[in-house]
Amino acid sequence: FNVPVAVNEPIKSYEPGSKEREEVLAAYSELFNANTEIPLFINGKEIKTGTTGTVRPPHDHQHSAGTYHIAGKDEVQQAIAAALEARKEWSQMSWENRAGIFLKAAELIAGPYRAKINAATMINQSKTIYQAEIDSACELIDFLRFNVEYMTEIYSEQPESTSGAWNRLEYRPLEGFVYCVTPFNFTAIAGNLPASAALMGNVTVWKPSDHQMLSAKVVMDVFREAGVPDGVINMVNADPVMMTEEVLTHPDFAGIHFTGSTGVFKSIWGQIGANINTYKTYPRIVGETGGKDFIVAHKSAIPQQVATAISRGAFEFQGQKCSAASRAYIPRSMWPEVEKLVRQDCDSFKMGSPEDMSNFITAVIHEGSFDKITSYIDQAKKDSNAEVIIGGNYDKSKGYFIDPTVIVTTDPKYPTMETELFGPVITVYVYEDEDFEATLKLVDSTSEYALTGAVFSQDRYALGTAVKALENCAGNFYLNDKPTGAVVGQQPFGGARASGTNDKAGSKLNLLRWVSPRMIKETF
Ligand code: ALA
Repeated sequence: FNVPVAVNEPIKSYEPGSKEREEVLAAYSELFNANTEIPLFINGKEIKTGTTGTVRPPHDHQHSAGTYHIAGKDEVQQAIAAALEARKEWSQMSWENRAGIFLKAAELIAGPYRAKINAATMINQSKTIYQAEIDSACELIDFLRFNVEYMTEIYSEQPESTSGAWNRLEYRPLEGFVYCVTPFNFTAIAGNLPASAALMGNVTVWKPSDHQMLSAKVVMDVFREAGVPDGVINMVNADPVMMTEEVLTHPDFAGIHFTGSTGVFKSIWGQIGANINTYKTYPRIVGETGGKDFIVAHKSAIPQQVATAISRGAFEFQGQKCSAASRAYIPRSMWPEVEKLVRQDCDSFKMGSPEDMSNFITAVIHEGSFDKITSYIDQAKKDSNAEVIIGGNYDKSKGYFIDPTVIVTTDPKYPTMETELFGPVITVYVYEDEDFEATLKLVDSTSEYALTGAVFSQDRYALGTAVKALENCAGNFYLNDKPTGAVVGQQPFGGARASGTNDKAGSKLNLLRWVSPRMIKETF
């Protein structure tokens, strides 16, 4: 299998005065004011239903940056029918053709679409240019490139044969269509979920988030220009309850590729179970859901490393990463130094709109999220077993802005040690230095999630103890590094427990879920 060796897309710096900075600012200003109309894409056609929603930048929520059309039951059924029709040719298409299309998509994003996809992500999801570049450019490009390489590795895994009997595994796509449900927080996930299933020969019905429609449209434009045939990826936004009901009661539903909340995923799982006799095949259920990701420092850790992990792990991307650090366990002797350093970082972080490229953090996604996060902050201000020691201020008059906030609690089971807030808030529990092993037990027992976690120590014995004690607590486990920023091709990503099915995005493990292999034995 001869395909280009996948390499990670270098992150551009967007230095003041650079060409790339000017390009992205121009794209931002054009797209911000374009009032883009976003249709459904079914069978390669743009469908306008007339029932619409508005794209509102989270940092400027009175502004309309576009209108997206919303599907009814008929359009959802049309999308399923289009996918099944397209399957007839797509499932027979050579792997080289499929690979070529998605490699082309990667190059379109790396080149002509880079400024636009980044601008859309900045406007729609309120990301700074660096956040957008890492997400909608580099990570999406990496997914597309690396998956092609992984696909060929899968195809080359074959059983032994003898001279009289030829054994071969044919990695067929699933029999039916794949339903892809994507979240607001990563444009890369929006692109990767349908693309990875389609790369393996499947057809898809893709439901993007309401809060991602502008960037989802750019992703769809890229797929179409790259040559994804009509009907292979159908982008349909609709009421999620109605759409999921339509999809999950269809006999040809063959799998779901989901990233979103734990509650929604569990309910989908229940619906699939309830409908199991409807389907022709057992559906593949792949989901990446919530997190309550931890940082644990041992007394031998380097305070600066711990503080940087807190500041970057919790506050970059406004804390809106499923991997974001949101609970920390720090030994008492180290806490004053770590606190001082985190405070210095927070004092230096500028917050504001993404078009001002000196801003480090921007707004959270919508009012519901803002209200939830700030209600926990307000409660912590009142509770006797918690204290807001850094940040705690917020303002939603123009955009949904929340200061990077550190809560310290004396109760290791305090609500913000357990509940996922999905915002720029971390809660710290200060433990007695000698209680490291007891603290590891607390980390294990405090959260239902197991997505990411980080342990800091200069003592190998302590690191080894933590690796063992926390073996079920994080699908992505970091030693002396922050718990965020997994890179495709380097750290396959996904969690266990209530965090997901751990089918590692950006790996062969994930792609294997989208094939139904046929074993062929031929004797001579
Ligand atoms: N894959 C992203 C990270 O690791 C969510 O931060």
